[in-house]
Formats: sequence, structure tokens, C-alpha cells
Amino acid sequence: MAPADRTASAEPQILVIFGATGDLARRKLFPALLRLLRAGMLPDAFLVIASGRHPQGDDDAFRDRLGDAVRDLAGDGAFDAGAWRDLAGRVRYAVASADDGSALADAVRRARDDLGGHARVLYYLSVPPGAAEPMIGMLGGAGLAEDATLVMEKPFGRDLAGARALDAAVARFVPEERVFRIDHFLGKEAVQNVLALRFANGLFEPVWNRDHIAYVQIDVPETLGIEGRARFMESTGTFRDMIATHLCQLLGFFALEPPVRIAADELRAEKLKVYRALRPFDPADVVFGQYDGYRGEDGVADDSPTETFVALRARVDNWRWQGVPFFLRTGKALARSLRVVTVGFRNPPHALFGAAARDTGAPDELVFDLTGDPVVSLDVRAKRPGPDLRLARGRFTFRADEAFAAGEPLEAYEKLLLDAMRGDRTLFTGAAEIERLWEVCDPVLKAPPPALPYARGSWGPDAASRLPGERGWAVG
Ligand code: BG6
Repeated sequence: MAPADRTASAEPQILVIFGATGDLARRKLFPALLRLLRAGMLPDAFLVIASGRHPQGDDDAFRDRLGDAVRDLAGDGAFDAGAWRDLAGRVRYAVASADDGSALADAVRRARDDLGGHARVLYYLSVPPGAAEPMIGMLGGAGLAEDATLVMEKPFGRDLAGARALDAAVARFVPEERVFRIDHFLGKEAVQNVLALRFANGLFEPVWNRDHIAYVQIDVPETLGIEGRARFMESTGTFRDMIATHLCQLLGFFALEPPVRIAADELRAEKLKVYRALRPFDPADVVFGQYDGYRGEDGVADDSPTETFVALRARVDNWRWQGVPFFLRTGKALARSLRVVTVGFRNPPHALFGAAARDTGAPDELVFDLTGDPVVSLDVRAKRPGPDLRLARGRFTFRADEAFAAGEPLEAYEKLLLDAMRGDRTLFTGAAEIERLWEVCDPVLKAPPPALPYARGSWGPDAASRLPGERGWAVG
């Protein structure tokens, strides 16, 4: 790729990160910036204003602490000290709160002057849902919103009313075309590959419907617990954190109609159509769980009802998907960490091989492993070598890292930060989609099922294992 294609843009850029001392900034945002810088993908004229509610000493002290945190998380071997010095030299710290944006306004003015007067300013809101709206009001009040680009982290509100209030606050100060709502699952290489496989080939689309597909499972189990994020978990819960966001976004990519073009407005319009057809979740089809020991975690109430696990059956009431169940599952402290979507095909209409085929278990399945580099497998029945015509399950596998040895995969946050700097909204979500998803979630938010206990390292409560019927979960 020519260098011009790789960079964020030639335009000078200032990235303001609210919540710069938080978990996401340390774990994802600064490491992503570091890798983009090493890969030559950041513009030469680039500054970061890290911002938080409390003073952090002078800039050097802040940079040193941040560098230590990023190095500890990356591990010494993976940390490029030289590149970090370059990035750290571009980082300044400014205090800002919902009531007072004056120090931030000064810092932005100085950064603009340092970059020669013209710079695109991106405000990245990595703050809890309740803090986003007041911070946007502060940007408006401090005169910073006029030409601002806003990058927002999920969850977007806590329910439909909250999302609407947030959207209204955003719309007061920043036009929709300058708003980038991040759902980082959409930045994963493997998720973008779903669009490529579905729409760049003639093979899949003709069978991508209720006539050929019997079920879809969207499965995101995680082995990690809450890792010090008790406050976030207690106020958000897994249903809001994962289902209303990442898993529903995956469902949108798998279920959408072919868009007219791969472009932001077209993709959003098609996803919105899917979500309009998505039947509001019925609490009777939802299993909540809570891992044993969760209530003993620091910062968790002794009688906390918060769910750390969700499994549910979703239905898309449209021409393509009527009658095809979509099973969604995710949770903390489970047996394995995976991001996998399994598309199960119907059995052939005539049982030519009789019992021999039935004994091979599940029908054909197309399995998308979305964890890292894309891996897609097709499990089929095939003849087992030998004198008799006996069948067994065989697998075709596509591995992007083997197929494209010289590829340059970007981690999700690298890709999305780069796209936000380029002004490309294709992989970001729209306000209308998010509001509709809250509508879909509303019955469960109003009448949540009780969180059933499950053992750490298991696959969640038994009731969840029974949800997909005879096939069971493809994984686990
Ligand atoms: C985050 C959630 O958005 O996604 C976390 O808040 C979850 O709870 C994480 O662990 C999973 O992301 P990834 O990139 O590791 O699949």
C-alpha cells in the first residue's frame, strides 16, 4: 500500500481523550496509538490531550505513569520504548469536568497554535454513560463543539429514554456526520471479513436465508471475571454491556440485506431494517446468570442481582429470516474465551445415506471465528476413507494469516481510531440503530429474569444450555 493510503490523513489532528486515566485508555487507546505511530499511520502533526477530572502533576509525571501502565499491560518484550517516547512527547494532560472546561479550552487553543492553527479536533468520550451528556454540554458551553468531531464509547445510555436524551444533547452541539459511535467489535478484522465473504462471493448469498439456514448462534464466552471493573459491571450488567451492543451488532452484520454500497449510510440503513424486524426480546426466552463468588468481589454488593451471563433466543421477523432462531450467549468467568458465530444449515431434503448420515451429528455448519485473524470453517459430511460408504464430519478451513502472510491486520481500536481520524463512518453505529436496539431490549430491562448461579469455569446455568434445543451450543 502506498504511504498516502496508510495514514490517518495528512491534516493535523488533535485527539482529546476524556477518561484518559481509565481502563480503556490504558488497555486499548494508548496501545493502539502507539502501534499506529510505529506503523507510520498517524499524521506528522498529531497531538493528544489526555483529560480527566483530577490534576495529575505535570505532563512529564503523567506521561511516565501512563508509559509504565502501557508497558506493564503489553509486557516488556512487546513494548517499543523509542516509539513510546515519540508518542509521549505528543501527549499533554488537561483537567476538565462537566462544570469547567476552561483549562481544556486553553489546552486545545495551545495545541492548535503549536500545529500551525488548523487542526481537526476529535473528542473521545471514554466515560461512563451518565457522564457523557454533561461532558457534551461542557464542550458546547466552552465553545469547543463548533467544529468538533465526537467519538463516543458504548453503552449509549442505559435505556431508550437515556439514549434519546443523549442523542438530543449530541444533536444540539454536533451534527450527526461528525459523530462516531464506537462498537469496537465492528473494527475487528474478522467481522469486516463477514461482509467480504457474504458480498464479494456468489456462493453464500443464495443460501443465506430461511430456506437453507436452520439457526444462527452468536457466542462470546469469556474466561475473565470482572477484573477490577466492579463499578462498571454493577451499574451496567452484561445484558447492556454486551448484548445490546456487540452481540446485536454481530447479528446485524450476519442478517442484513446486501447494501447498495459498502458505505456508512447504506450499512446503517440495512442494519436498522434488521433491528426493526428484530422482535423485542421476550424475557421468557432469556437466561441471566451470575458466577459464584461475584458477590464477594471488591465493590460488589452482597445481594447484587447483576447478571454476569446472558443467553437468549432472538427472532428476526422478515422475509429472509422468518422462523430462523438466532441464539446469543455471552458471560464472564466461563470455560473458554471465544468470539464465534455458527451458521447451521438444514439437512438435505432426502436422507440418501440414512442412519449413516444421522450418526454424524449436526448438519453442515459454517463457523466464523472472530477472535483474532479471521478463521472461517465449513463443517460438512464426507465419505470416511475405507471399503464401505461410511460418513464422517470433515472441515474446510480458511485462515487469513496463512492465506495472506504479508497482510497488516489492525486491532479493532487501531482500525476505528484510524477511521475516525480519516472521517470514515462506515464501521460506526448510528443513533437510530441504537435507539431501536434499546426498544428491542426494553421488555428484558423492565422485567429481567433472575440471575441464576453458575460455577466459574463452566458454561453458565443449565437453563442456558437447553436454550438451543437438540443441537445444543456448537461450542461447549
Ligand atoms: C467490552 C466490554 O466492550 O468488550 C467487556 O465492556 C468485554 O466487558 C470486551 O470483555 C470484549 O472485547 P474483546 O475485544 O476482548 O472481544
